[in-house]
Amino acid sequence: MEQRSRLFDSVVVGGQLLRNRIVLPPLTRSRATDDGVPTRLMEEYYRQRAGAGLVISEGTVIAPQATAYARVPGLYSAEQVAAWRPVVEAAKRDGAVVYAQLWHVGRQSHSSVQPDGLPPKGPSAVPITGYQYRSPIGRIPYEVPRELTTADIAEIVEAYGTAARNAVRAGFDGVELHAANGYLIDQFLNDGSNRRTDRYGGSLENRTRFLHDVIAEMAHYLPAERIGVRLSPSSDWMDAHDSDKRLLYSTVVRQLNGLGLAYLHLVEPEIAGSTTVDRPADSIPTAELAGIFDGVVIVTGGHDQASGERLLADGTADLVGFGRLFIANPDLPHRFLIQAPLEPLRHAGIYGGGPEGYIDYPSLATSGS
Ligand code: PHB
Repeated sequence: MEQRSRLFDSVVVGGQLLRNRIVLPPLTRSRATDDGVPTRLMEEYYRQRAGAGLVISEGTVIAPQATAYARVPGLYSAEQVAAWRPVVEAAKRDGAVVYAQLWHVGRQSHSSVQPDGLPPKGPSAVPITGYQYRSPIGRIPYEVPRELTTADIAEIVEAYGTAARNAVRAGFDGVELHAANGYLIDQFLNDGSNRRTDRYGGSLENRTRFLHDVIAEMAHYLPAERIGVRLSPSSDWMDAHDSDKRLLYSTVVRQLNGLGLAYLHLVEPEIAGSTTVDRPADSIPTAELAGIFDGVVIVTGGHDQASGERLLADGTADLVGFGRLFIANPDLPHRFLIQAPLEPLRHAGIYGGGPEGYIDYPSLATSGS
């Protein structure tokens, strides 16, 4: 039997009314300048995808040291803030609410992209094994990261606050903290990458401290109800290992309750970074963690319209992200609405390059069909 669509129901997030529950999730596309400055190409890309209820920017780095890859945008310089403004405006042209995803990659970086040419820093001097760094000359091993000092940690926390302030100045409605996929915050959470013996390592209270320091710092510059947090609780991508992930992430979600955040954004267990994998044997059901959270939940990872509707119908999610479908179908909400066929994703042009594979996917309205 045909069920009423819930994807087109409105929903309130962070005190703002969204006209649908369809999310453009954060997607690295590498079309900024070498200095991390947003470009006209990005403006067009976000303009094309403005039909989402919530647009979340691609991962945007909080400092030059925070990046792993070329042409990822930043929010640490005045030039970047100024260049984000028209991009954010374009994303808002149809009333979408627009958040900036704030990113620090920690040990997933490489000396070749570090400003000082030295290996990146992470919670502990534990390198990523089992994965290789995506360099311009091909895949190369990750390096042993340098252990962050407490002064380094304080500096990074401050940089998150500055980036949040800059996001507001650039016109973003809120920020999403990237605490997923084995990046810096996730490196602090997981005991495989965090061997610290100070107040940032050891107990769950200590390993979650960095996350809470960052949220508290950002909350100086925008209300907590405009801060979302993204987690990938079942993923061991990029060597994100913990001795008890269920305890770790259920504790994190419980801690986030009561902070009055905009939302919790959960990545499905079948997603490993940018790839799809078999659901890990010890995966934590998304519904279980969503059920612990007392606010708005976004779920992203491999969903189509039908499975997205099911997530809303069974109460697991309040909003659903569609990454790959949105890359290939800029007018995805419109296509969902009229049940139009979807364009397939082309691999070429996902990361970096020019307009090809970025802004040349057709919208039905402009292709005349
Ligand atoms: C990627 O560039 O492949 C990528 C970036 C951020 C993520 C996951 C994957 O969280």
